Amino acid sequence: MKMFAIFGNPIKHSKSPIIHKLFAKQLNILQQYKKIYVPINKFNNIVNYFFKHGGFGANITIPFKKDAYDICDFLTERGIKSGVVNTLKIIENNKILGDNTDGIGLLKDLQKINFIHKNSNILLLGAGGAAKGIIYPLINFGCKITITNRTYKNSCNLLKHFNNIKHIDVLKIEDINNIINKKKINYDLIINATSSSIKGEIPNISSNIIHSNIFCYDLFYDSSITPFLKWCLHHGAKKISDGIGMLIEQAAYSFFLWHGIMPNTTLILKEFKKKYS
Ligand code: ATR
Repeated sequence: MKMFAIFGNPIKHSKSPIIHKLFAKQLNILQQYKKIYVPINKFNNIVNYFFKHGGFGANITIPFKKDAYDICDFLTERGIKSGVVNTLKIIENNKILGDNTDGIGLLKDLQKINFIHKNSNILLLGAGGAAKGIIYPLINFGCKITITNRTYKNSCNLLKHFNNIKHIDVLKIEDINNIINKKKINYDLIINATSSSIKGEIPNISSNIIHSNIFCYDLFYDSSITPFLKWCLHHGAKKISDGIGMLIEQAAYSFFLWHGIMPNTTLILKEFKKKYS
C-alpha cells in the first residue's frame, strides 16, 4: 500500500487525511495517509526519514512550505514560480519532486463559486508562505493583486520574489486604509492569507473596504465561521467563503500528481460538508 502523510506544526486541525480518504474511496485506490507533527528545526530529518522508509508522497503545511521547497531535487513550474511547495513526490532514484497546488486549487475554487473573473482587482492580506503560494496562478489568470501586510518589510520581500511579473504591487496597511477611507479604490475580491484566524484575530484593515458587492475569501477553514469572515459579514459583505473548497481542490491536484487521476471534487465537497462540518 502506498504511504502518504501531511507534515506541519500545528497539525492536529488538518483535514487533509479525511479528504484524501474520501478521494481514495471514490477512486478505489488503496493508500495510507497520516498526519505527522514536526518540531521546528526537525523538518528535513523527519521528511527524509519518511521517504527512506517507504513514503511515496507528502503534503506540507505551516510553517514548512519553504523548507520543503529547499529539499526538492526537481520542481514543477508551479513550484518554481511560487518559491514554496505543498506537495512532494518520490520519483526515480529516490529524488524528490516538489509542486505547489495551493494557487491552482484556490483559483479553481474561486472560479467554481464565481468569485473571480479575468480582470479582478484583488486585495491580498498577508505576505507569508500562504500568500506566496497563491499569487502566480491568480496573476497568470489575468488578475491584478495588491499585497498588504502587518509587517511592510515582509510584503516588500514577497514582491522581490515576483519582481519580473506585472500587475502586483505592495501598499502599507496605513496607505491602503487611507485610500479606502477616501473611497479612491474598489476591490472586487479580498483574500485573507494571513494566519490571524488561527489565533482568533483579524488583520487591521479598515472596515470601509467592505461593500455589498465585494467577494471575501478566507484561506483558513474551520468548522465554525472564521473571525475574518464574521467581521466581513458584520460590515455588510454578502458574498463570503472560507477555504474548504480550496483545501479540497489543492488536495485533488496533489492526488493527481501522485496517482495520475483527478477526483470529482464537487462530490467530495458535498460529502465533506454533510459528514464533517
Ligand atoms: P503562512 O505559511 O500561513 O503564510 P507565515 O509565513 O508565518 O505563515 O505568515 C503568516 C502571515 O500572517 C504573515 O503575513 C503575518 O504577518 P507578519 O508578516 O506581520 O508576521 C500574518 N499574520 C499573522 N498573524 C496576524 C495578525 N494577527 N494580524 C495580521 N497579520 C497576521
